[in-house]
Amino acid sequence: MVTTHLRFTLLLAVIGIFSSSSQVRAANVRIKPFSSPFTTNLATLQSQIGYNFTNINLLRRAMTHASFSRENNKALSIFGFHLIETSLSLHLLSKDIDTSSKALTRLIAEVSNVESSCALDGNRLGLERVIRVSPKTDASNSGIVCGGFRAIFGAVATDAGTVDEAIKVFWKVHGAGAGRLVSVL
Ligand SMILES: *[C@@H]1O[C@H](CO)[C@@H](O)[C@H](O)[C@H]1NC(C)=O
Repeated sequence: MVTTHLRFTLLLAVIGIFSSSSQVRAANVRIKPFSSPFTTNLATLQSQIGYNFTNINLLRRAMTHASFSRENNKALSIFGFHLIETSLSLHLLSKDIDTSSKALTRLIAEVSNVESSCALDGNRLGLERVIRVSPKTDASNSGIVCGGFRAIFGAVATDAGTVDEAIKVFWKVHGAGAGRLVSVL
């Protein structure tokens, strides 16, 4: 009788050890989402653009294509497109107020061109490996890379509550490898 009781106690002790170790494992698993590849990519992207978000969800959204979820970068991308127009206009007209409307329009069209400029800027940041898309969608599609690139500026401006930061970030990431634009200006 005593031995049976002892065995039972031992069994309970062993079960206790197992369940506490599986709790530890469960706790480790719960930590994982914070270091997912996407989260790591967002951290890398912040250092690449030289801007740390107060609300990282804005960058998360900027890096989410409409094929992935209803919460996506469409509106931020439109905002970003207009911020790029603003950046270029300010830059050109403060350098030369006599800049012709034709020259300004041409420059905006050049930098906004999806194939020849916008997607290249996005590729330089490696956005094709960051942007979340549905399994059937190719994230390296130039329209998707370009949309993500533009959305970054919309996200920065929204986060900062001012367009100045976004314009600064634009010149940092566009100026970095844009031989063509630099020669135009
Ligand atoms: C962003 O945060 C990192 C890590 O805290 C820091 O090293 C870096 O200087 C910050 N960058 C800016 C632009 O504030």
